[in-house]
Amino acid sequence: MTADQMKKAAALEALKFVKPGMNIGLGTGSTANYFIEALAAKVKEGLNVQGVPTSRATKTLADGLGISLTTLEEHSHLDLTVDGTDEFDSEFRLIKGGGGALLREKIVASSSRYMVVIADESKQVKKLGKFPLPVEVIRFGTDATAWKMERAFKLLKLEGQMVLRMKDGKPFVTDGGHFIIDCALGEIPEPERLDNLLNSIPGVVDTGLFIGICGIVLMGTPKGVKEFKRG
Ligand code: 5RP
Repeated sequence: MTADQMKKAAALEALKFVKPGMNIGLGTGSTANYFIEALAAKVKEGLNVQGVPTSRATKTLADGLGISLTTLEEHSHLDLTVDGTDEFDSEFRLIKGGGGALLREKIVASSSRYMVVIADESKQVKKLGKFPLPVEVIRFGTDATAWKMERAFKLLKLEGQMVLRMKDGKPFVTDGGHFIIDCALGEIPEPERLDNLLNSIPGVVDTGLFIGICGIVLMGTPKGVKEFKRG
């Protein structure tokens, strides 16, 4: 079974959490796209829901497939968010942002009653940090911010390569107009502490660590979709 087949199976399973009338956060990335396509098929059959996209790319996709869209301005509390992830651990902590949408994803997911994460089995880790941690930073003074981030890593005895994310030969700019620094730290022993330290640095907008936000993970495996629920 390929990773894509596992992603798709998890995405289809997530439909069971969707109820008529819901306002739903729509994630970003290939796994989230499978969910959006499946949701659009239900909408065509008559399901009445509204989606809040977490990126311009998701907005274009969902709109094109005929899903009614709304905003957090119109609905500040959502019923559900379904999104992919780059990593998850046994405590439902995530690293997200591989697709560059971490800030809107976090705002939307944390405004939702439930965040359901859909993933293939390669995303499950014992310790977060195999995937480089994306940190969204203000464009002003990026080097100074990066230096303070490095100092925070040292406090936690972490080190690793920090790379400004590039696209087409230029720094990648998020939908919010910021840069991303990808930090290859290896295993992160204290994700909460790291998140707090990074978020206290002027210039850091947010990190790809999602802590205390995800309640359910649906993981596609060759033997079927496994469901993990936070107690
Ligand atoms: C985007 C994300 C994605 O959810 C994450 O990168 C996983 O992507 P994919 O579903 O394509 O594997 O956080 O910012």
